[in-house]
Amino acid sequence: MKANSFHPPERTLLGPGPSDVHPRILEAMSRPTIGHLDPAFVGMMDELKGLLQYAFQTRNTLTIPVSGPGSAGMETCFVNLVEPGDKVVVCQNGVFGGRMRENVERCGGTAVMVQDAWGSAVDAGKLRETLKAHPDARIVAFVHAETSTGVQSDAATLAGIARDSDCLTIVDTVTSLGGTPVKVDEWGVDAVYSGTQKCLSCTPGLSPVTFSERAVEAIKARRTKVQSWFMDLNLVMGYWGGSSKRAYHHTAPINALYGLHEALVILQEEGLENAWARHASNHLALRAGLEAMGLELLVEESARLPQLNAVEVPADIDGAGVRVRLLGEYSLEIGAGLGDLAGRIWRIGLMGYSSNPRNILYCIGALEAVLGSAGASFERGAGIAAVEKALKG
Ligand SMILES: Cc1ncc(COP(=O)(O)O)c(C=O)c1O
Repeated sequence: MKANSFHPPERTLLGPGPSDVHPRILEAMSRPTIGHLDPAFVGMMDELKGLLQYAFQTRNTLTIPVSGPGSAGMETCFVNLVEPGDKVVVCQNGVFGGRMRENVERCGGTAVMVQDAWGSAVDAGKLRETLKAHPDARIVAFVHAETSTGVQSDAATLAGIARDSDCLTIVDTVTSLGGTPVKVDEWGVDAVYSGTQKCLSCTPGLSPVTFSERAVEAIKARRTKVQSWFMDLNLVMGYWGGSSKRAYHHTAPINALYGLHEALVILQEEGLENAWARHASNHLALRAGLEAMGLELLVEESARLPQLNAVEVPADIDGAGVRVRLLGEYSLEIGAGLGDLAGRIWRIGLMGYSSNPRNILYCIGALEAVLGSAGASFERGAGIAAVEKALKG
């Protein structure tokens, strides 16, 4: 078979991730590949660690990008901190809490689940009660921003409860980093992982992680070897560590790291607070448009994740059909519901470079066209007018 070069179609990515990649990042990734132990590359790595500390709002020395997607960052946290026989309290209010449970069990630990409804935030009271009932728990794990439902939980409060019970915390910030406040030091959380393909506007495939001193001490004091050679931080640190002597561990994804570096330079230029404010105000404009069309958001206002909007599919509308038409006719990607919410919601992301007024107007305009011809009843033009008004503030 003779294959030709692959040229992807031009899309507007307003799903749960990946989001549109900033052109500056794509350009940075096309720069010449150099050796992964080249002094120039090592200098870039040091800068990258500093930029990640800024993004995570932390002084943690062990702050690096794991070579692999968000799931690799997730596993890195679990395999390094959980030992066979450990009890881990896992809060689940969507898909990704379920993956945390899988990780605990595959590490030989016991997961004690705190379950909340999909679409609600993690209940702090339930966590407190669970820790009272399980004083031997060593770790609390929770998802800050549940991408499957568009919910944000109160990380500072959950981390405080975990600390009161002398537990370490593992926190998923894949969808929050760069979009809503992630304050690792202020929250006092211990092992935090994220992804590059959401609010950092970068390509998928890297996972920024950060570990507190407490977490590093716990890793050093392990009774057993970390079960994964690739993710064993004791080994990875030989390459990413603070000393000037770097040892080969694996060949770093060099051009992908150029991309992340550029993404973080862009974040620094914008300023974290400004990035958070942009995501918040664009969410309000999108919401105004959706509500003017009679559409409703799944999540109650106080727990809404501005960068990921879970929109209820009206009863008489074929949700999957709408998504297919948006992609086919408008080259616009939005997400479907997962798990318990499959078929019940659309997930509209406004993340990173994708979070801008042009995309909001495009999305609402395309939705008006598709829903209008699908027979939904709403006043045509009302959505666009509401977005315009919200954008003017
Ligand atoms: C909250 C959350 N955690 C973990 C992941 C896994 O990340 P990845 O798909 O990059 O492996 C995702 C991906 O969407 C996510 O949204």
